[in-house]
Amino acid sequence: MRKKIVAGNWKMNNTLEEGVKLAGQINDLVEKTDLNGVDVVIGTPFIHLAEVNKLVGDKIGVAAQNCADEVSGAYTGEVSASMIKSTGSKYVILGHSERREYYGETSAKLVKKVKLSLENGLTPIFCFGEVLEERQSEKHFDVVKSQIAEGLFNLSAEDFGKIILAYEPVWAIGTGVTASSAQAQEMHAFIRKTLVAQYGQEVADNTSILYGGSCKPSNAKELFENPDVDGGLIGGASLNAEDFMGIITAF
Ligand code: PGA
Repeated sequence: MRKKIVAGNWKMNNTLEEGVKLAGQINDLVEKTDLNGVDVVIGTPFIHLAEVNKLVGDKIGVAAQNCADEVSGAYTGEVSASMIKSTGSKYVILGHSERREYYGETSAKLVKKVKLSLENGLTPIFCFGEVLEERQSEKHFDVVKSQIAEGLFNLSAEDFGKIILAYEPVWAIGTGVTASSAQAQEMHAFIRKTLVAQYGQEVADNTSILYGGSCKPSNAKELFENPDVDGGLIGGASLNAEDFMGIITAF
């Protein structure tokens, strides 16, 4: 059966000291909570990874928010998948819309990043989603399908089975506007159908598909109640330990 997952994405927030403090607060809350089978992930900036990994217990996995599309060498400013792995991190967020929009993240680059992540034993949390114009012109299903196909359908069924998907409609990210529960379910069901066609029912049934975009304690329950919504990728609300816990316990 597929996993239920709540993953935080801190984005470019928190100094080292602030990040360590926040991770400690989240860890304390998680340690005393029955998570009801939910996997908890926190996605920190690179500089926090090693410290946060030392600090959190087994109930929390740590994610980077990106990795390089090359193995190693003369790529100033880049951080490789093997370097991320060496911090104790288990996950890497790839293809976030902010990276696609501001840093020229193309599907071709993502194919390389996914491959390197898997080779280094990291679990990719692969993000995709349409912008508002695409939804308004009813192209959202096509856009989502091609982002998934271009980034991931080169994988074998075995490797695809290691991927976590995150549907994040760009118009809902950081805007306070959440997709309605029905919009989320409609898209997630479409994604699962697309996976059935490519990899078969079993792989599709075992793939966790997270929703992201202005998810908060007040709307998480309604979103997570949908049969095809397997958790959330949380930006703003993951910067506050109590809000993040409120989302985790919404399952
Ligand atoms: P948000 O961000 O929860 O602040 O909308 C979600 C994300 O970008 O992953």
